[in-house]
Amino acid sequence: MNIKNNIILAMDLMDILEAYEVVEEISDYINTIKIGYPLTLAEGLKSIGIFKDNFDFNVICDYKVADIPETNSKIADLTFNAGADAIITHGFVGEDSVKACLDVASNYNGDVFLLTEMSHPGAQMFLQGVADDIAKMGLEMGIKNYVAPSTRLNRLSEIRNIVGKDSFIISPGVGTQGGDPKDTLKYADALIIGRSIYASNNPKEAIESILNSLK
Ligand code: XMP
Repeated sequence: MNIKNNIILAMDLMDILEAYEVVEEISDYINTIKIGYPLTLAEGLKSIGIFKDNFDFNVICDYKVADIPETNSKIADLTFNAGADAIITHGFVGEDSVKACLDVASNYNGDVFLLTEMSHPGAQMFLQGVADDIAKMGLEMGIKNYVAPSTRLNRLSEIRNIVGKDSFIISPGVGTQGGDPKDTLKYADALIIGRSIYASNNPKEAIESILNSLK
């Protein structure tokens, strides 16, 4: 995926008009948005089309899909049919569930991002212990796209080692959760940034300041 300025806006506002206004302000700087349950449950799958039709953005749906294969297929089908370019799926549910998402994605020429380890502190309780195995499974399945945390650079670096330089890693946790943009890009291909931009009094200045910090 071609991600302008290596920044993905995580849009978790729950009002589509407010979300639209923020995006309009910074649309010169980004071409990729990630939406998740907050916006989708509040405003519906039509949110995807709004960012595609009005901004021609890449839309990544962060639905952290984690169900049995049959249900994963339905979730992925609804998501890609609504216009998404990519879906984020959990890896801990195992190969069959992940494959269900990959199969649907290939029908739409879409991408699957495999979530390895999450960025929040609680991920260290359970998920961290299996994250390397999830990354290895992804590699064996031929998956090219991964999500790994900016909040623990040692873990991000380890996951990069496992998936290799030809894989594409996007990394959440930058800014509000403590991750540093420049350091994260030593190991990741793109940053996922939410509140530091959309919750700022001036989203345009906020993204400009992040971009300056990357120079
Ligand atoms: P903030 O506001 O913290 O938003 O910049 C981060 C965004 O990323 C999501 N998030 C994750 N998504 N794996 C994911 O797939 C993760 O480890 C992870 N950690 C945070 C979060 O929901 C928000 O949209």
